[in-house]
Amino acid sequence: MHEKSAEAAVGACPRALYVQTFGCQMNEYDSMRVAWLLENRGYRRVDDPDRADVIFLNTCSVREKAEQKVYSLVGRLRKLKHRNPDLKIIVAGCVAQQLGEKLLERFPHLDLVVGTRGVGAVPDLLDRLWQDGNRTAYLPDDEGETNRHYPPAGGRPLRSGVVAPVTIMQGCDNFCTYCIVPYVRGRERSRPSGDVLREIKALEDGGAREVLLLGQNVNSYGRGLSERIDFSELIRKIAGETNLSRIRFTTSHPKDLTESLIRCFTEIPVLCKHIHLPFQAGSDLVLRRMNRRYTAADYEDKVRRLRDACPEIGLSADVMVGFPGESDEDFEKTLELMERIRFDTLFSFRYSDRPFARSSGFSGKVPEDVKSRRLAILQGLQAEITLEKNRLEIGGIREVLVEGPSRAGGGQFTGRTQQNRIVNFQGDETLVGRCVKVRITDAFSHSLRGELNGGAVD
Ligand code: SAH
Ligand code: SF4
Ligand code: F3S
Repeated sequence: MHEKSAEAAVGACPRALYVQTFGCQMNEYDSMRVAWLLENRGYRRVDDPDRADVIFLNTCSVREKAEQKVYSLVGRLRKLKHRNPDLKIIVAGCVAQQLGEKLLERFPHLDLVVGTRGVGAVPDLLDRLWQDGNRTAYLPDDEGETNRHYPPAGGRPLRSGVVAPVTIMQGCDNFCTYCIVPYVRGRERSRPSGDVLREIKALEDGGAREVLLLGQNVNSYGRGLSERIDFSELIRKIAGETNLSRIRFTTSHPKDLTESLIRCFTEIPVLCKHIHLPFQAGSDLVLRRMNRRYTAADYEDKVRRLRDACPEIGLSADVMVGFPGESDEDFEKTLELMERIRFDTLFSFRYSDRPFARSSGFSGKVPEDVKSRRLAILQGLQAEITLEKNRLEIGGIREVLVEGPSRAGGGQFTGRTQQNRIVNFQGDETLVGRCVKVRITDAFSHSLRGELNGGAVD
């Protein structure tokens, strides 16, 4: 069945696929995987939904705003379907998992709804859809064989950009009370290290120089696997068996950050000296109600240990304001923690109730205007800290892995320092994928500017 449909698609006019992704990097990874699988069946990517035969939307449900964005986009696609009734529209990802059939009812122009554990089956589902035209919601309880062996042996090479994301575990077992992820992504499952390694080697063959290991809580990698391995051992294995320039990972949960992982930052040269360690709130009362299972002092202690072991480590985090019951004093504690720690970057959010999340039923809801005011204060403080820390970079020489031309054009190229700061500089195509030394000359709120200091160093 696959062969035939592939031939049909490869014929005179291959079917055009448009992919749009919302949400986290794990969704980006899933979209990449679906695109690769479909390209193997003869589809070609287009970057304009108007020219597509298939539109694949990978959605996020983590905050209310993210969910609303999906509805307005899907609503706008009605026009396209009207113009081209053969167009197939697929909604996958976390909103698909959350709503299932209800999405098909709400949007009659949708063809396929695919849950988070079903993305590997999209090519087969699409084949069937072209044949029988039946609209369906596919929400399996586990990935089955389709995801387990990705990339399948054979097929097109896994062409990659300089930085390649690789999901090493799915789902989450932490059940922070505000969070929908454990419900839409399911229980935590780690991928066997052999599968992870095979994929990373294929990506390296396809051009990757850095891998970004992904999971909602990568620190607990290995639990439930038949092999005995933990996250720091996985990093050591990847470093030992590949020739990558860099390994990076995200996200880490403070409660599971181990001494052996901290040691990796000093012992493994290709491991980027950067950690994303969400703290969410500075008040112990709030942290307890969030079910984060650490106190502010525990968090600061972990940061101290990281910085003692590796003084140049870059630190970023997530934080939210307006969790139910968050008082002005609680919020002050968040600001105080930020001032003590001085994160390099901070991603900050306004709390919103989510379906299934326990905190949706908590009392003490914070009014929207209070949340907005708190967020503005918090972001103002962090903007100052980020800029001050970026300015401290001026005059220094940093190693940058060159990712490609910068959007600004004019011969500018862009890459990141190990600490995850974006650096733009005058360069040329031959440097893409190489590590270079850059002297930092200027600092802005979201990036640095510099000039090459000698040639490539690898
Ligand atoms: N697994 C990661 C985070 C995943 S979600 C971790 O544990 O840190 C990314 C961020 O979204 C979270 O860190 C949190 O700050 C934010 N977030 C999650 N649920 C939210 C909600 N209901 N309202 C507002 N922000 C939320
Ligand atoms: Fe959500 Fe908490 Fe799991 Fe992160 S660790 S995905 S915030 S439940
Ligand atoms: Fe969003 Fe789902 Fe990721 S809810 S943050 S796309 S796991």
